[in-house]
Amino acid sequence: MGSVLVVGGGGREHTICWALKKSNKVDKIYCLPGNAGIAQIAECHPIGALEFDKILEFVKTHKDIDLTVVAPDDPLALGLVDLLNDNGYRAFGPKKNAAIIEASKAFSKALMKKYNIPTAAYEEFSDYNKALEYIKTAKYPLVVKADGLALGKGVIICQNVLEGEQALKDMMVDSKFKDAGKTIIVEEFMVGKEVSILSFVDGKHVVPMVSSQDHKRAHDNDEGLNTGGMGTFTPSKVYTKEIENEVLNNIIYPTINAMNAEGREFKGVLYFGLMVTNDGVKVLEYNARFGDPETQVVLPRLKTDLYDIFNACIDGTLDKIDIEWKDEACVCVILASGGYPESYKKGVEISIEDIDEDIMLFHSGTKMADGKLVTNGGRVIGVVAEGKDIDQAREKAYKNVEKIKFDGAFYRKDIGIKR
Ligand code: AMP
Ligand code: GLY
Repeated sequence: MGSVLVVGGGGREHTICWALKKSNKVDKIYCLPGNAGIAQIAECHPIGALEFDKILEFVKTHKDIDLTVVAPDDPLALGLVDLLNDNGYRAFGPKKNAAIIEASKAFSKALMKKYNIPTAAYEEFSDYNKALEYIKTAKYPLVVKADGLALGKGVIICQNVLEGEQALKDMMVDSKFKDAGKTIIVEEFMVGKEVSILSFVDGKHVVPMVSSQDHKRAHDNDEGLNTGGMGTFTPSKVYTKEIENEVLNNIIYPTINAMNAEGREFKGVLYFGLMVTNDGVKVLEYNARFGDPETQVVLPRLKTDLYDIFNACIDGTLDKIDIEWKDEACVCVILASGGYPESYKKGVEISIEDIDEDIMLFHSGTKMADGKLVTNGGRVIGVVAEGKDIDQAREKAYKNVEKIKFDGAFYRKDIGIKR
């Protein structure tokens, strides 16, 4: 028995808190900073995920905490797990030297190249003029990616030289993604079906979770800008037993072995963003954490105690527990603020009426202000439904999405259709 601290404040963290709440080994959950939804099940304090000194102080003064879960990418990349461990505290998540698999695309592409892990062909540039020369003669479409973390938005698919030039200018000259875009990757455009595989890793053993699929573009039919994710579903039809074996043998095990060979032991959740192409499955990206909003559909299907799994990942004993999943499908539809992923208003009042009992609402960007629930981010609330199949889960989710209202709210109407 003990208390758990979850660092972060979005829909992913709400779902992690919700799953931990079901454990009879967890008596209290704290969340920093949390949000209005999380505050219904955890004690939230206004400390940001990057305020390392304050987080450490919080853990020191709350002696009941026996585990800290670091959920977002940036504190992982900056070494929050290292800081907590160095001070004698248990923390779930990769250390800085392993979180780099997400924090630097130049690192992850070089890793895949060195260990023959299938991915799109690419070139890396830190010199704007050299990059410009290259994209003038390259084949289109091509993909320009910022090396560093950019909230899922540092990827630009370019149809022609003009768009390529603009992407380079945005990243390398105008620093739209700050330092994250100083180095860029220019990569071959892959055609295929996307699938996400999140996996628990304890350094030696890896247990993949059920498959899921994200819808990253802002609008229906995959139009509009890339976002952090507008909706998800599980399972993916593309992820057959045969594909699963290919992914385990060609991608998942080789990646864990490669990280160990590099002296970068990975413990935590490793997320494989995959493209199933005619030429085999290839890696689109790695994330060193749970996905958002993949977590919102994957964890509701988990039957095993999440607290036990987190501890097994830390202790290197994942092989000692059976991780079980429900057969049900799950769909998550995100309600977002008008204007997202570009500028949007915050503080807009939200009304929620008569949500069906079996629906889960995971808050992404909400807070309480003067006793009212208001928006506090681009992605606001995820509506999650379970069903015997994706069609049934979709129907339940959309019936309830309509009961949540705020000025400027929008959502995609086609989550779970293209699959
Ligand atoms: P990433 O953050 O690297 O996963 O990229 C965001 C999204 O851009 C992916 O989910 C894909 O839809 C798309 N994307 C990224 N790289 C490629 C690629 N090489 N070929 C085609 N689409 C891509
Ligand atoms: N939904 C994609 C991500 O979490 O990176």
